[in-house]
Amino acid sequence: TARPLIDSFSRTISYVRLSVTDRCDLRCSYCMPERMQFLPKAEVLSLEELHRLGLAFIARGVRKIRLTGGEPLVRRDLMTLIGKLGRELGNGLDELTLTTNGTQLKQHAGALVDAGVRRINISLDTLQPDLFAKLTRRDALAQVREGIDAADRAGLKIKLNTVALKGLNEEELPALIGWAHGRGFDVTLIEVMPLGEVEEDRFDHYLPLTAVRDRLEQDWTLQQSPHDSGGPARYVDIAETGGRLGFITPLTNNFCANCNRVRVTATGQIFMCLGQNDQVDLRAAMRGPDSEAALDAALDRAIARKPERHDFHIDAPGAAPALARHMSMTGG
Ligand code: GTP
Ligand code: 5AD
Ligand code: SF4
Repeated sequence: TARPLIDSFSRTISYVRLSVTDRCDLRCSYCMPERMQFLPKAEVLSLEELHRLGLAFIARGVRKIRLTGGEPLVRRDLMTLIGKLGRELGNGLDELTLTTNGTQLKQHAGALVDAGVRRINISLDTLQPDLFAKLTRRDALAQVREGIDAADRAGLKIKLNTVALKGLNEEELPALIGWAHGRGFDVTLIEVMPLGEVEEDRFDHYLPLTAVRDRLEQDWTLQQSPHDSGGPARYVDIAETGGRLGFITPLTNNFCANCNRVRVTATGQIFMCLGQNDQVDLRAAMRGPDSEAALDAALDRAIARKPERHDFHIDAPGAAPALARHMSMTGG
């Protein structure tokens, strides 16, 4: 039967992040400019094509699919895709999930559960309405909190993703983690990555997680957690809160050696690494002649080119971002 996707460093690709749209209803200042130029809709894969792509990856041994954006839930009729992919659960696919900013969760939490989604990751950098409005340039914290509550009530397991930002949410991090753990949510902290031009210098707000960890250890006992999601996050259990905390440290501690993932943009470009620019056009393969075989061959070409590691660095004020592409092209 079909060959698994194994790269030239013997890493097996079992996880695909499919971006379903580059659009978003927020404008997080480290992610995109206020006047973000979005893709013309005609460039974007149809829901049928996204479904075909998902099935092609599952046939090649992928066991986990995460839908991303932009904000995935702003894509019209996304639930039909989630419903279809959900039918593959237990049938090659182990997990179907998404990473969302939470603004639309209230409307969709129930349907996600019905489709077989069990856990979701929600991006939330602050619980302070003013800081939220400043960071995302939208006054949407109340809506996001309603979304989180709805997801929780629907029975979804929740993990919060929090970008650590010097001078912004830095002081709030212990309170945010304490609040989340009190509600039974995991939290993962993320170092800001230099992807795409934004209207600020990321250097100004770059906060190494080594410093955050030292700060947290003044109040809390951090014990290395046995939990491993196979991803870049390193987890600790916090004795005092009873909760789990992850650290995603592209800048201070490289985690690429056990990379298990690739990303596909909403236009069907597969990126073998978040921190590199090499890409292969899966859309052209899917839309051309003999498309099934062409797609398989394109996947082989892509995986063979997967680089060993990213080379993100933030070491000087005013430096241009390492990559011109924004995070919203690949959904993190
Ligand atoms: P789990 O399934 O819960 O392990 O989630 P995940 O970490 O795979 O997915 P999530 O979307 O929550 O990722 C959180 C953030 O971590 C992303 O938005 C990225 O910013 C960052 N991240 C995830 N994978 C990678 C990676 O391979 N390289 C780098 N540099 N950052 C990553
Ligand atoms: N660096 C790190 N994380 C980022 N995100 C968006 N842009 C960046 C960046 N430049 C995060 C969001 C969300 C996830 C999808 O990616 O906060 O949690
Ligand atoms: Fe939207 Fe996520 Fe980017 Fe914020 S980080 S602007 S929520 S895509």
